[in-house]
Amino acid sequence: MSTKAKDRFHVLIVDNSDETLSNLKQQLTGGGYDVMTAQGVESALAVLDFKQVDIVITALRMPIGADGLDLLRYIRDHFKSVEVMIITAYPDIESAVQCIKDGAQEYLTKPFSETELFNAVERIKEKIIRRKTASPEEKPGQFLGIIGLSPKMEEVFERIDRAAQTNANVLIAGESGTGKELVARAIHYGSYRAEAPFVSVNCTAIPDSLLESELFGHVKGAFTDAKTLRQGFFQIAEHGTIFLDEIGDASPGMQAKLLRVLQSKEINMVGSSQIQKIDIRIIAASHKDLKSMIPKGLFREDLYYRLDVINITIPPLRERREDILPLVSFYLKKFSEEMELKNPPVFSDNALKALKNYSWPGNVRELENLIQRLVVIVDDDNIKVSDLPESMRFNVIQRNSSQFKTLKEVEQEYIASVLASVGGNKTKAAQILGIDRKTLRLKIEKER
Ligand SMILES: Nc1ncnc2c1ncn2[C@@H]1O[C@H](COP(=O)(O)OP(=O)(O)OP(=O)(O)O)[C@@H](O)[C@H]1O
Ligand SMILES: [Mg+2]
Repeated sequence: MSTKAKDRFHVLIVDNSDETLSNLKQQLTGGGYDVMTAQGVESALAVLDFKQVDIVITALRMPIGADGLDLLRYIRDHFKSVEVMIITAYPDIESAVQCIKDGAQEYLTKPFSETELFNAVERIKEKIIRRKTASPEEKPGQFLGIIGLSPKMEEVFERIDRAAQTNANVLIAGESGTGKELVARAIHYGSYRAEAPFVSVNCTAIPDSLLESELFGHVKGAFTDAKTLRQGFFQIAEHGTIFLDEIGDASPGMQAKLLRVLQSKEINMVGSSQIQKIDIRIIAASHKDLKSMIPKGLFREDLYYRLDVINITIPPLRERREDILPLVSFYLKKFSEEMELKNPPVFSDNALKALKNYSWPGNVRELENLIQRLVVIVDDDNIKVSDLPESMRFNVIQRNSSQFKTLKEVEQEYIASVLASVGGNKTKAAQILGIDRKTLRLKIEKER
């Protein structure tokens, strides 16, 4: 993670008085804090749901609705990493004791000086820093079990971190095999919902006729086959996360039903008129470009915007080649341990070069499968270019050391790079090169 996002402190001030809000905001902004304000507990909760917040400074008494103590308790239960400071113009020992018991870090009585304010906020800040450094460090190049050290993956990690600290819906985009489900799980297990279920729903797999009962459950006797009461995905995931995988393949009927749940946060079991409130975080994923499906009428715009509150787009592996070698080492170690090998096999330089230059149309899943296969099939400890699938071998050309290349070499290198860019597909490569497949094959065979 970049230090920039880690070091900035986000403060949310909650008070019904405009004047207090703007005074405190001005002071803290001047002190280098990123400051947000809310005029009551309700709007504070909305900010907590959608923004990263480190410290909440809240008034104790508020004339309407919930008060500072309610907010404090809610934060203790739902946003464990957020620290709270209470400010009040009506101090009494009893409420102060209660606030500290309920987990407030600081209790400040109005009026207070700017120095008193800063001292209190600094104490909280130090506590947060101590907690962050005390927690076990992730290995470098790895975040919640996700491998990646490219700047593009750093950005993905930052977004996962932010998503995990909020309740906002998340839309994950990325080609097949880039790790969409892995990212969804990381968000769930990094959030306060980690103890509750993570339920993965494949939107392609549910026929329209079973949709409602699969999603929302049914009561006994709701239809002929409903012999007993059965819970749907949404009931099973209560307090946890529902992962709507391949949302781009959801039928129009399913899209409409999902939209309704997202809007109302309520469901009905089939055969029951009773409405159930649900408390669920929604994460959706698709390898399709949903935005481009909207004008064609294939995906509902209203559903898209409900889901795309936090967007995480995972770039394909060929756009972050720095991650290839760390992934290769990770999977070599993993599969060698599974095979109980004493030492993981070692790649020759050229074999590694071939992996680095390959286009990986199947992304990390393809890499994972390849390494698993190699660990099983190689019988000496070395993996050579000849052990690799044909489509990868073209990425390495053995050349003599002279500075200039022959025309033949240039031709071979060019053929190799075209083949690599189309994942070894000779028909496509021949098309690009403007020759027929047979000529291409002859040129490749001559080289070997
Ligand atoms: N950065 C990564 N680090 C380690 N393993 C990864 C990484 N990205 C993906 N994987 C692994 O690759 C495989 C595919 O990942 P996942 O199933 O999450 O991809 P996906 O994007 O959901 O693919 P699809 O669109 O095909 O469903 C999994 O075994 C996952 O553990
Ligand atoms: Mg998937």
